[in-house]
Amino acid sequence: MKNPKPILTLLFLCLSFVAGTALAEESFAEWLFTLDRMKEVRPVDNDNYAEECGACHFAYPPGLLTAPSWQKLLAPSALEDHFGENAELDDVTLAEITGYVLTNSAEKSYFKRSRKIARSVASMDEVPLRITEVSYIKRKHHELTDSMVADNPDVRSLSNCNACHTKAEQAVFDNDTVKVPNFAEWDD
Ligand code: HEC
Ligand code: HEC
Repeated sequence: MKNPKPILTLLFLCLSFVAGTALAEESFAEWLFTLDRMKEVRPVDNDNYAEECGACHFAYPPGLLTAPSWQKLLAPSALEDHFGENAELDDVTLAEITGYVLTNSAEKSYFKRSRKIARSVASMDEVPLRITEVSYIKRKHHELTDSMVADNPDVRSLSNCNACHTKAEQAVFDNDTVKVPNFAEWDD
């Protein structure tokens, strides 16, 4: 490249523009925080979903599974026998929740971790019924032992994301935010 100056100038202008708009609308810290959040999964932002699907367990953000999995899970006949429990919903609530979940499923999300989940699911032979069956999620937990999960009275199941992921409610699953109850390791 003979003369990099015009490109540098352009880059500088772009950067100042981005920083400028960011500063105008929110604090720089908030702007950075938003960027950081985009690495993760979109947090749950639907009251009906949070209430109905958070009644028995952590309300899983829709960006943790792809649409075919959600469709299987939310079929009325499937909800009647939902992992051995009856999680039936009235038609109106079910329609709203289904719409919300399908609009925000992993393959439609721009959040980085959702994209990884969507890619992982695409490489699987079957449509997973569980987040904990997604190859990417399984891989991330392969070091965990029974004493940390099934036999741990404060965890019991890998499905209880929020037992170990201290920022699960904000849909943040980063390694830095993990604390396995009763284990000093992964406590930082
Ligand atoms: C009546 C209680 C109950 C309600 C209500 C309920 N669930 Fe569940 N759900 C369960 C149980 C029990 C499991 C299995 C947990 C385990 O294996 O530890 C489960 C598991 C799941 C899993 C798989 C988690 C994993 O292992 O990856 C998903 C996804 C899920 N539920 C979504 C939903 C959605 C969406 C709703 C709302 C329509 C909902 N649940 C409502 C009881 C419930
Ligand atoms: C028994 C505790 C425990 C439970 C329950 C659990 N996790 Fe984890 N998770 C961990 C640990 C430990 C790691 C790896 C941390 C490390 O390597 O430093 C991890 C890693 C991850 C990562 C990778 C983070 C990164 O920075 O790459 C994701 C994503 C994740 N978990 C999602 C989930 C989801 C979603 C659920 C629920 C369906 C869940 N986890 C349930 C303990 C748990």
